[in-house]
Order: sequence, then structure tokens, then C-alpha cells
Amino acid sequence: MAHRIALIGGDGIGPEVTTEAVKVVRAAGVNIDTTDFDLGGQRYLRDGEILSDSVLNELRNFDAILLGAVGTPEVPPGVIERGLLLKMRFELDLFVNQRPFIGTAPGHATPHDFICIRENTEGPYVGEGGVLRKGTAHEVATQGSVNTRMGVERCIRYAFELASQRERKHVTLVHKTNVLTFAGDLWQRAFNDVAAEFPQVETAYNHVDAACIYFVQDPHRYDVIVTDNLFGDILTDLGGAVSGGIGLASSANLNPARTGPSMFEPVHGSAPDIVGTGKANPTAAILSAALMLDFLGESAAADRIRTACATNPTGSTVDIGNAIAALVAGK
Ligand code: IPM
Ligand code: MN
Repeated sequence: MAHRIALIGGDGIGPEVTTEAVKVVRAAGVNIDTTDFDLGGQRYLRDGEILSDSVLNELRNFDAILLGAVGTPEVPPGVIERGLLLKMRFELDLFVNQRPFIGTAPGHATPHDFICIRENTEGPYVGEGGVLRKGTAHEVATQGSVNTRMGVERCIRYAFELASQRERKHVTLVHKTNVLTFAGDLWQRAFNDVAAEFPQVETAYNHVDAACIYFVQDPHRYDVIVTDNLFGDILTDLGGAVSGGIGLASSANLNPARTGPSMFEPVHGSAPDIVGTGKANPTAAILSAALMLDFLGESAAADRIRTACATNPTGSTVDIGNAIAALVAGK
């Protein structure tokens, strides 16, 4: 039976890269039935729709969502991000943001292979806070970070389960426990408690600032990293930069309980400066589609796609998509 996929190309280069991802999935012989959803900044500018509850409910009926990128310079920052992307992450309970990094960092001789597990529904992303006396010299802005024991623990447990299936069986907690003492203490205790359930998994802790150094100087120390939403956002851009570039960085927004669809998207944004030029590398979107196939039980096809992507074809967006499609199809 065909997997039912909701396609949200979105803005900027999003539609260009998702077209190539769909092409490659089909070339790999996986039967998908796609439905296009016209959502994103451009749609919002046309008729004000961002993501209504009825469209959100339609999305719930799909097996997975494949997303390109959202956000456009004509719309103020946050409107589309919060109203579309974060709304999907929160409402569909996509509490794990899984971002794999395989590559050779500049100055290193051998490739690293690690996975960031970013908590995806809490932390500073919840939008807690407000402003007072806006625009005056006495303006106040607060932005809270929400960390629940349930939310933190389920994310950490996912990281340990993942690590227990990997060869190295190692999890590093990344936080800033020396300054964010309330949230950091909750994370550290939840981490220690879950670690006790997985005696076969080794553990480590890094402060997030130190982790930035290790990502560049010693990425081989990592196997699975688990971290909060905002640290994970920032660290995974760095992860992309040390693993062949952001054009290769893929991600899976997962609802591991499978109470609804999970969402798959490249880490990069809509890159409005290069839209229509053919300069966008579709590999991150193609690798995100491979993560989708893993989640849909099509790991053999996903592996073939990853092997094809590793040849790093060059050329335009369509050239790269065609080259990877031809490799997975065995042509
Ligand atoms: C990401 C993006 C998003 C985030 C933005 C677009 C809201 O940067 O997926 O990493 O901050 O999570
Ligand atoms: Mn980001």
C-alpha cells in the first residue's frame, strides 16, 4: 500500500528541494501518494492562512509530512515560524528532533558519525513571556523556558534507546547546568535516572559552550547527544557546518509514540536569496526523505538513498536530484 505523504514545499527554495526529494523516493521504488499543502509565508500574504485547526486535522490523517522550508522576508520574524512550524511540532507532539551528522570536519582525517536529539516541544520555544512599556526607555521583555519532567525525560529516554541500538552506546547530555541551574538540575537528574535504566550505555556531560569547541576540534567523541530545544537548534547548525555544510543536514521531527504523523525537513531555511537560481542543494531534503522512509519501515530504500547521496553529485538543484535518482534506481 502507498504511504500517504503530506507535502509542504513552503517558501523560497523549499518547493525546489522537496520536488527532488519526492523524485528520489519514487526512483527508489517506494510507493508514495503525495498531497500538496500550499502553506507558508507566500500563502499567508495571499489570504492570511497560516495553519488553521482544520488543516492541522487534515494533516493528522497522513503517514508523514515532508516539508521544504518556511519563512519569507516580507513577513515579520516569528509569524510563520510559530504559526506553522512550531504549531505542527507542538500540536502533533513531535517531541524529538533527530539530526544525524556524518561527515569529515575541516582539519580532520576521518569521518565522524553522531546524532543530535533535540527536545522539540519545550524550553524557550514555548513562547512564555511578554513585554511591558514597549518602545519606551523602561521597556521590559521576558522570555521563559519551560522544562517539564515528563517532556525532558521522554526525550532523554528516546536518546538512550537509540544509543543502546548503536555500536558505541554512548550518550552525552549537553546543557548549561552551571548557569541555568533550575532547568539544568532537572535535566541532569532526569538524565541520571534514565541512565540507570541503561547500564550498557556510557554517559558524558558537556556544557553547551564547550560542546561548540568539541564539535569543531573533536567531533569523534560523540555518538548520541541529547539537549534542550534552543541549544539543539544552535548546535545543529554547527553540526551541519562541520559535516559537509548545511546543504547536507537532514532532520526528523518525531512522534515516537506514533499517535500521528511525524514531520521531516532539512535543517536549512528558505534561502530567499537563491530562490529560482538552481543553486540550492537538495541533498538535505533528500536525506530528510530517507529519514522519513526509515520511520515508515522502508530502511532498505533509505540506505540506498544515503549511499547515493554520499557520492555528493554537483550541479544545479535538478542535476543533483537527477543524479541521485539515477543512482538509487540503478540506472
Ligand atoms: C530549525 C529552524 C527553526 C527552529 C526555525 C525556522 C523556527 O531554525 O528547524 O532549526 O528554530 O527550530
Ligand atoms: Mn535552526
